[in-house]
Amino acid sequence: MEIIIRQDADAASHAAARVVARLVREKPNAVIGLATGSTPLMLYRELVRMHKDDGLDFGEISTFNLDEYVGLEKEHQQSYHSFMWENLFSQINIKPENVHIPDGMAADIPASCAVYEQAVIDAGGIDLQVLGIGSDGHIGFNEPTSSFASRTRIKTLTQQTVADNARFFDGDESKVPPPCITMGIGTIMDARMNLMLAFGEGKADAIAATVEGPVAAIMPASILQHHPSAKVFIDEPAASKLQLADYYRWVYDGKPEWQADA
Ligand code: GLP
Repeated sequence: MEIIIRQDADAASHAAARVVARLVREKPNAVIGLATGSTPLMLYRELVRMHKDDGLDFGEISTFNLDEYVGLEKEHQQSYHSFMWENLFSQINIKPENVHIPDGMAADIPASCAVYEQAVIDAGGIDLQVLGIGSDGHIGFNEPTSSFASRTRIKTLTQQTVADNARFFDGDESKVPPPCITMGIGTIMDARMNLMLAFGEGKADAIAATVEGPVAAIMPASILQHHPSAKVFIDEPAASKLQLADYYRWVYDGKPEWQADA
């Protein structure tokens, strides 16, 4: 795991955006996995800026989103469909047919999950997966004790996640649908690179456990210790409980120029 600690969320997001942009330039038809939540917003804003100012071209890029609530129409303001179109897709030149987001309204959810898994395979696999992390350590909506071998499937949110996400639903926990569809941890681990973002003190415990704790299903993100190419971009508050923070800073600051955005 490579741990990149930046002063604030903005700087960390910009550093992450440079990694995504480098992939988009080197492989114009790359397959990118995307996340929702408040964490990736600055990353998406920077990608939009790079598209508008620098001509970063998403014309042949395909995307697969991690998750979606079950029972929310695509048009619902809090669906992850709405989130992605509002915050990224409507502002770049991605082709709608290259966008994939689990369908929370599918009549046959297990079948739609199998189709989603197959679509990832048919696209050639995910080159780079963007991840946030729940305060309980979830990635996508793979809640604690999710199988490390899991594939796209239906899950039930923990009460902690329902409480965390209620802020998007007028603060009303009863409006947060507990069932969801999420890419599995096995699916996430198949991505060629994983790029995790986490900001704020509220993520410090989960980040410390993910990076320096034991690999355990109770802390789903800890599986990234087994990934050959996982980068974790965090701000100082999210880094505040890491034992080896000084080491990570020293390594990153000493990277040679040719490795800088790798
Ligand atoms: C959400 C999403 C995750 C996200 C996480 C953190 O519920 N399903 O993909 O990474 O929880 O959210 P936030 O970035 O808002 O803290």
